[in-house]
Amino acid sequence: MFEKLCIIGVGLIGGSVARAAREYGLADKIIGLGRQDDVENLRLALSMGVIDEFHLTPGPAVQEVDCIVLAAPVGAMRSIFDQLKPYWNDKVIVTDVGSTKASVIAAANHVFGSVPPNFVPAHPIAGAEKSGVEAAQTGLFLHKRLIITPLENTSQQAVNVVQSFWQGLGAYVSVMDVERHDAVLAATSHLPHVLAYALVDMLGHQDEKNAIFQFAAGGFKDFTRIASSDPTMWRDICLANKNQLVPLLQQLKAELSHVEDLLQAGDGQQLFEIFNYARRARQRFLNLYEGSMSKSITFTVQPGGKLQGEARVPGDKSISHRSIMLGSLAEGITQVTGFLEAEDALATLQAFRDMGVVIEGPHEGKVTIHGVGKHGLKAPKNDLYLGNSGTSMRLLAGLLAGQAFDSVLTGDKSLSGRPMKRVTEPLAAMGASIETSQQGTAPLRITGKAGQLSGLDYPMPIASAQVKSCLLLAGMYAKGETCVTEPAPTRDHTERMLTGFAYPVSTQANRVSINADGKLTAASIDVPSDISSAAFFLVGASIAEGSDIVLKHVGINPTRTGVIDILRLMGAHIEILNSDIVGGEPVADLRVISRPLNGIDIPEALVPLAIDEFPALFIAAACAQGQTRLSGAEELRVKESDRIQVMADGLQTLGINALPTPDGMIIQGGKLGGGEVFSHGDHRIAMAFAVAGLKASSAIVIHDCANVNTSFPNFKELARHLGLSLESHEASFSK
Ligand code: S3P
Repeated sequence: MFEKLCIIGVGLIGGSVARAAREYGLADKIIGLGRQDDVENLRLALSMGVIDEFHLTPGPAVQEVDCIVLAAPVGAMRSIFDQLKPYWNDKVIVTDVGSTKASVIAAANHVFGSVPPNFVPAHPIAGAEKSGVEAAQTGLFLHKRLIITPLENTSQQAVNVVQSFWQGLGAYVSVMDVERHDAVLAATSHLPHVLAYALVDMLGHQDEKNAIFQFAAGGFKDFTRIASSDPTMWRDICLANKNQLVPLLQQLKAELSHVEDLLQAGDGQQLFEIFNYARRARQRFLNLYEGSMSKSITFTVQPGGKLQGEARVPGDKSISHRSIMLGSLAEGITQVTGFLEAEDALATLQAFRDMGVVIEGPHEGKVTIHGVGKHGLKAPKNDLYLGNSGTSMRLLAGLLAGQAFDSVLTGDKSLSGRPMKRVTEPLAAMGASIETSQQGTAPLRITGKAGQLSGLDYPMPIASAQVKSCLLLAGMYAKGETCVTEPAPTRDHTERMLTGFAYPVSTQANRVSINADGKLTAASIDVPSDISSAAFFLVGASIAEGSDIVLKHVGINPTRTGVIDILRLMGAHIEILNSDIVGGEPVADLRVISRPLNGIDIPEALVPLAIDEFPALFIAAACAQGQTRLSGAEELRVKESDRIQVMADGLQTLGINALPTPDGMIIQGGKLGGGEVFSHGDHRIAMAFAVAGLKASSAIVIHDCANVNTSFPNFKELARHLGLSLESHEASFSK
C-alpha cells in the first residue's frame, strides 16, 4: 500500500502499527522518527526489525514518504505539527492515533490556521498494560475498533486510504464526529482510568501503613489493571479531554453519594436495584464486545459417525422475539417458558428493557414480562443495538414508527448490510418517517409519528413474514385498516400470538388485516423448540447411516414445515409423534431414521416454508443420489450472509459440484471430502457444515462460528450428545 511509511513515536502503538504493516505487506520501508532522548528506544526498534531506519529530525525522516502516522502522546502533538510544518506536503497522507480528537485538531488548527485536508484524525481502541516498543505486537489491532473522525474539509481520498490501511491491520473501522468520539471515550476509557488511578492511589497510601495489598486478590487485580498504564500518557489524555471528563466525574460523585446514603439508610432494596442494573448493563456490554468483535470460534468435525438418542433443541427464535414484543405491549404480566436464550432474542429483550419495560430472566428459558400496555413504551436513552437480528430490526421498525418518541436502530456488520427498504417503503406509505443509509440499510433513524400513521392495503412483492409482521405492528397504531396480502404463505406466528393476546386480527385466504382498535391482554407463552434448529439434525440423522433420533417438542406450524416436506420428497424417514397444540402453536416429537436420499427439483411453493433451512438442505442434497435443483430462492442471497454463494463455495471446497444460480443452486450429489470452509459469520452455515462431517471422508474445519450463539448456543453440546464428533476452538482477542 505504501512504499515508505513514517512513524513518529515508536512505542507500543507506533511499534505495533509498524510490525503489523510489515507483516501484512502494507509498507515496503518503515522509518521511525523520535526525539533525541528517545534514541535508545529507536535503536531497540531498529535492532528488533520493527523499523528499517530512524531519524531524530523530521527533514530526512519524511522525505518521499507516502504516509505519516503520528503515534506520539496527545500532549506532544502541537510540537510535532510545528516541526512538520516546514516539510508539510499535501500529497502525503497524515494520520494519528491520539486518544482524544478535539485536542489534536486544536493543535493542528493552532499550527496551520486550519486542519490540513490530508490529515485524517484516527484512534485505534487497543492497548496493553505494558508500554514501549518491546511490547509492540502485530496483532494489537486485530478485531479491535478504530475510529476515524474526519472534518468537513478532510479529503475523502485520504479518508479512504486511512480506512483501508487500518482494515489491512485487522481493525474494524467506524467513522464518527469529533465531539461524539471524545464523549464516548471519556465515559468508557478516560473515566475508568481516572477511577483506577485514584483508587489505587488512595489504597496504596493505606497499604504503606497497614499492608492491605497482601489480602487483595483477583477482583482487585481486574478492577485496577488499567492503573498499570503509562502515567504520562494518561495525564496528557485526561488533561486533553477534561471538558468531557469533568462533568462525568461530577455525575460519578453524585452516584457515589447516593450509594453512601443508601448504605447509611440500610436500604438493601435500592442497593440491589443498582447492583442488579449494573450487572445487566455489563452483560450487555460483554455481549456486544465478545459477540461481535473479540471472539473467533472454529469448529472441527471428525468424519463419520451416526446420530442416536433424544434431544430437545432450544426455543423457536421467531416466537421468542414476538413473545417479548407483544408481552411488553400487553396489559398485565406475561410468563414465557422455553424462551430462546441466544443473542438474537436477547437483543430484542434488551431493546424493550431500554424502552422501560421490566423483564425478569431469562432463567432456564423462563421470562416474566411486566407489560406496559400499547402506549407505555418509553423513549430509549441510546440507540437500540440489535446485533445480528434481522427480525428484531424489521419488526421494531414497524412498531416504533407510530410511537410518541424517536429511536435509532443499529446492528452488527451483517445486519447493517441487509436490505431495509422492504419495510421502510411501505411504512413510509403509511406516513412513517424513517431515514436509512443511501443503500437503504441500517442504521434506521425513526421519527415517532404517534397518531399520524394511516392504514395501508399492501400486496407484498416478496413472501416475507418479517415485512408482514412489521406492517401489522405498525397497523396497531394506524388510523383505519392495514391489510397485507402475501404472494405465498409465510410464517404466521405474529397473527397467532396476537390472537393469543386477544388482539383482533383477521386472516382471509392470503390477506391479513389489523387496526388500532384493540388492546393486548397478558398471556402465558410456551415457546416450542425451533424447527430451524432441529433441521440440522433432521438432515444429519437422514444422511448418516445407522442414525435414529427423536427431537422433542418441535414447533410444526404448517408455515414452517417445508424442511420436513422437502426431506420426505428426497426419501427421508421422518415420523411425527405426540402431536399437540401449545399456546396456539402445533408441536410434536420428530423421529428420524437414516435413509438413502435422492436428488429432487425442490417445488418453489415450499421455498418460503423452509426459507431458513436451505443451508442444511444443501448438505442433504450434496449427500443425495443425483441432482437437486433449487430455484425461486433469491431471498437466500440477503440473509445473514449470501447463503447461495457461501454454501456453494464451501460445498465446492468439499469436492461437491455445486453451481450457484441467481435464485438457487444446482447440486450434484457425490462424495463429501474434508477441508476448510468459511461460514462468513452465518450461524446456519456453520451448523450445516458441522453436520456434513457425518458423511465426509476427512475432517471439516469451519471458520467464523461465533454467531452460532445467535440462535443455538448449546449446539456443540447437543450435537455431541447425539453423536457428532465436534470440537470447537475459541481464539479470544479481548484484553
Ligand atoms: C422470520 C422470517 C424470515 C426468516 C427469519 C425469521 C421471522 O425472514 O428467514 O429468519 O421471524 O419473521 P423473511 O421475512 O425475510 O423471509
